[in-house]
Amino acid sequence: MKIIRAKDYKDMSRKAANIISAQVIMKPNCVLGLATGSSPVGTYAQLIDWYNKGDIDFSEVTTINLDEYRGLPREHDQSYWYFMHKNFFDSVNVQPDRIHVPDGSNPDAEAACREYDAIIRNAGGIDLQLLGIGHDGHIGFNEPGQAFELGTHCVDLTKETIEANKRFFNGDESLVPRQAYTMGIKTIMQARKVLMVASGADKAEIIKKAFFGPVTPTVPASILQMHPDFILVGDEAALSLI
Ligand code: GLP
Repeated sequence: MKIIRAKDYKDMSRKAANIISAQVIMKPNCVLGLATGSSPVGTYAQLIDWYNKGDIDFSEVTTINLDEYRGLPREHDQSYWYFMHKNFFDSVNVQPDRIHVPDGSNPDAEAACREYDAIIRNAGGIDLQLLGIGHDGHIGFNEPGQAFELGTHCVDLTKETIEANKRFFNGDESLVPRQAYTMGIKTIMQARKVLMVASGADKAEIIKKAFFGPVTPTVPASILQMHPDFILVGDEAALSLI
């Protein structure tokens, strides 16, 4: 595990974008596993800036997102499909047929997850997986207690996650979907490189628990301690307890 200390959110975003950019330069047809949430937004903004300056080219890159709410159509302004287009894809040259997000509109959970695992397999696995971290240690939507050996699967969101995400649904908890399709821990662990971004004092406690506590399914991110190439880029506030 490598920990990189950044000054603030902007510095964290630039450092993370540098690592992604190096991956794309070294392997232009790489497979990037991407994440949603507020943590990686600055990373995407930095990559867009470098793309606009001609410093990075995504034309051969394949992207595979971590998760999607079950029951939300792509066009819903809170779907992760929509989030990714607004914050990244609409501003760079990733080819539309190389963009993958689990199909939240497919009510057949088993089929949706099976198809997604096939996409990941056919792409040759993930070269670099970008991650944020939830306050309870979830990665993607792998909530505490999920088995480490799962591929893409359907999860029930915890109360805490629903509460944390209601700010995106007009503050109305009843509008937050109760389930999601998520890449499993197994798939995340199979990524050749894993890059986590963490920012803010509210993440300090979970960062300490996940990376300096025991490896346990009750803190899903803790398994990353075992990954051979895991990089955590955190700002001062998020790393303040370690
Ligand atoms: C959601 C996403 C996660 C993300 C987490 C933290 O639950 N499914 O992938 O890491 O939120 O989000 P934030 O970065 O906004 O704190």
